[in-house]
Amino acid sequence: MTDANPDRPSTALVVGAGSGIGLAVAELFASRGIRTVAADLDPSGPRQLAAQHEHIVVAGDAGWDATDPDACDRLLQEAVAQLGSVDRVVSTVGWTAITRFLDETPDYWRRIIDVNLMSAIHLSAAAGRVMKDSGGSIVLTSSEAGVAGQSGEAVYSAAKAGVVTLAKALAREWARFGIRVNVVAPGVTQTPLLESQGGEELLSSVVRAIPLRRAGEPSEIAAAIEFLSSDAASYVTGQTLCVGGGLTMSS
Ligand SMILES: NC(=O)c1ccc[n+]([C@@H]2O[C@H](COP(=O)([O-])OP(=O)(O)OC[C@H]3O[C@@H](n4cnc5c(N)ncnc54)[C@H](O)[C@@H]3O)[C@@H](O)[C@H]2O)c1
Repeated sequence: MTDANPDRPSTALVVGAGSGIGLAVAELFASRGIRTVAADLDPSGPRQLAAQHEHIVVAGDAGWDATDPDACDRLLQEAVAQLGSVDRVVSTVGWTAITRFLDETPDYWRRIIDVNLMSAIHLSAAAGRVMKDSGGSIVLTSSEAGVAGQSGEAVYSAAKAGVVTLAKALAREWARFGIRVNVVAPGVTQTPLLESQGGEELLSSVVRAIPLRRAGEPSEIAAAIEFLSSDAASYVTGQTLCVGGGLTMSS
C-alpha cells in the first residue's frame, strides 16, 4: 500500500509545487493532513506555501532543478530527512511554448526534452532508490498532447508521450517493490503556463473542441493526482488518466 503505516500520517514530496497544478497538489495534500515537502526550481513558491500551511515544509533554502540527476537524489534524501519516509512522490515539472517545428532549434528541443522527460526520469530514479524497500506511489505529469499529439508542440508531445511509457515500464518493473507509478495528462488548465502561451486567446480557440466547454482548474487536476497517489488507487498502476474535459478520450 502507498500510505504504508496506518499509525502515522502519509508523507509526500511534490516537485513543481511553486505554481499552477503542483501548487494545487501541495495545498490539497496539506488540507488532507499529508506532511508534504514542496520543491521547485524557483524556491519562492514553496517558501510561501510553507508559511501558509503547517503541513508543508521546504527542503533547504535553494531551488531544485529536476533536470539534474544529482539534485534529484539530494532532494529525495532531504525529503526523507524531513519526513522520516516518503510515501508519495509527485512531479508536475514541465514547460512548453507554442511554435512551429521547422522554426525550432536543436537546443530548444533538448530543453523541452530535459524539462518534460528527463526530469521525470531523474525524479523517478531518485524516488525508486528510496522507495524500493518501503513501497510507495509515484505520479508523473504528462499532457493530452502526449497522448494525442499537438500541433505547435511536436517535441513537447513526444516528451510527454515518453512520460506515459516511462510510467508503464516502471510500473511493471517496480510492482515487486510495492511501488505504483501512474500519470495524469491534463488538458487545457488555467495556470501561469497557459497564460504564457496566450491565455484567453488560446482558450477561446480550443474551448469549442472541449466537450465540457471550458478549461480546467488546477484543483481539478490535483484531485486526480491525489487519487492516483493514494491508497484509494491501490490496484491502479501504469495508467494515464486524462483530465481535460473530454478533449482526449484515450480508451
Ligand atoms: N496548464 C496546462 O494547460 C497544462 C496542460 C497539459 C499539461 N500540463 C503540464 O502540467 C504540469 C504543470 O504545469 P502548470 O500549468 O502548472 O505550469 P506552471 O508553469 O504553472 O508550473 C510548473 C512549475 O514547474 C517548475 N519547474 C519548471 N522546470 C523545473 C525544473 N527543471 N525543476 C523543478 N521545477 C521546475 C516551475 O518553476 C513551475 O513552478 C507541466 O508538466 C505541464 O507540462 C499543463
